Amino acid sequence: MIPKHSQQEIKGPYRARGTSVFYNPQMVFTRDLTIAVVEHFIEEQKKPAQKMKFLDGLAGTGVRGIRLAKELKTKSEFDVVINEGNPEAIDLIKTNIKLNSLEDHITVENQNLNTLLTSTKFQFIDIDPFGSAVSFFDNAVRCVRPGGLLALTSTDTAPLCGTYVRTCKRRYDATPAKNEYMHESGLRILMGAFARTAAKYDIAIEPILLYSMDYYFRLFLKVTKGARRAEEMLSGVGHIVHNRSNNHRYSAPEPESNDNVYSIGPLWLGPLNDSDFVSSLNVSRNHFGSRTQLKKMCSIWPEESEMPPWHFDINNVASKLKIQPRKFKAIQQILVANGFSMVPTHFSPQGFKTDATMEDLRKLLK
Ligand SMILES: C[S@@+](CC[C@H](N)C(=O)[O-])C[C@H]1O[C@@H](n2cnc3c(N)ncnc32)[C@H](O)[C@@H]1O
Repeated sequence: MIPKHSQQEIKGPYRARGTSVFYNPQMVFTRDLTIAVVEHFIEEQKKPAQKMKFLDGLAGTGVRGIRLAKELKTKSEFDVVINEGNPEAIDLIKTNIKLNSLEDHITVENQNLNTLLTSTKFQFIDIDPFGSAVSFFDNAVRCVRPGGLLALTSTDTAPLCGTYVRTCKRRYDATPAKNEYMHESGLRILMGAFARTAAKYDIAIEPILLYSMDYYFRLFLKVTKGARRAEEMLSGVGHIVHNRSNNHRYSAPEPESNDNVYSIGPLWLGPLNDSDFVSSLNVSRNHFGSRTQLKKMCSIWPEESEMPPWHFDINNVASKLKIQPRKFKAIQQILVANGFSMVPTHFSPQGFKTDATMEDLRKLLK
C-alpha cells in the first residue's frame, strides 16, 4: 500500500482502497516539504542530549511517519511514533512499516491524539487533521520539547478567509474578511490565534514557514519557552485596517471601524517565514515528486517574508485605479525606480507584495 521508496509516491496509485483509511496522493507537496524541513532541523541540532522523538500524530496510512524514518534515518538517531485513532488503519500501518523494514525505528499507537499528547514529549510533531487543527493545538504546543518543531495543517480556509465569519469568530476569536488578500489574512489569523494560545502557557511560537496552498494552510513553527519570549511574540499580533473605498490598508494594534474602514484580526503581522531556514532547504532530491514546484516556492517564500502583511492583486489595483492592468515586470520597474520594493507572492500568481501604499500606486501607475 505504501511505496517501498517514496519514488513511488510520485507514480501511485496506492490508495488505501477498500478500507476506511485516508490517503491523499495530492498532498505529496506538503509531505516532500516536511521531509526537507525536518532534515534541515536535524542538521541544525547540536548533538541532542537524548535520542530525538518525532510524532506523526494523525497518520492515516502512516505515509508521513514512514517517509521520515526511511528518508532521514541516516541523518541522525531518532525514533518515530505513528499515531492513528482509526483502529482499521493500524494493521495497514504495521504492514507498511514491515514492507519498508522499519520495525526498529517506528512504534505505532492507536490513541486519541489529545490523550497521547499529554503523555510524552517530542522534538517534532506533525498534525494533519480533517478541517481545523485548533482542537489539538493546546496540547501539541505543550508537548514539543523547547527548540523543537510543530507542523500543522488546517483545511478550514472558508471560515478563515471570510466565507463563514461567525465560525471564524467562534473558533479563532478573530474577524476575517473576504478580499483580494483573504488567503494571506486567513493564514495570519490562524497564526495569530495559535500565538495567543501558546502565550497562555508562557510558550512562544516562531514561524519557520507559513504558507497557503490549494485548499489548506500549513504552519511549521519553532517552539520555545519563556514568559518574556511569549510577550515579545504577542507584539507581532494586531489588526489590518482596510479602507473600503480607496483600497488603502494599514496595520494597527487595535481594530478600527467606521463607514469607510473595516478591521481584520487579531492576526499575525510578523514575518511569514525564517528566510535563512527556507533558503537552506534541500528540495531538489530526485525522488521528490513535487521538486519543481518546491524549488519555485522556495525562491518566492524568503523574499516575501518581511514585506507588509498583505498583498495586492494586479487586476484589482487596475480596476480600483480605473487603468488597464499592467504586467508584473512593468509595475515592478516603475516601483523600483521610485525607491520601492516589489516581489511576487506565493498567495496568488496575479499578486504582488510591496512597501508602496495604495496612494503611492495611484500616483505612480495612474
Ligand atoms: C487527513 S487524515 C491524515 C492523512 C495523513 N497524514 C497523510 O498524509 O496521508 C486525518 C487522520 O486523522 C485521524 N484522526 C482524526 N481525529 C483523530 C484523533 N482525535 N486522534 C487520532 N486520530 C484521529 C483520522 O482517522 C484520519 O486518518
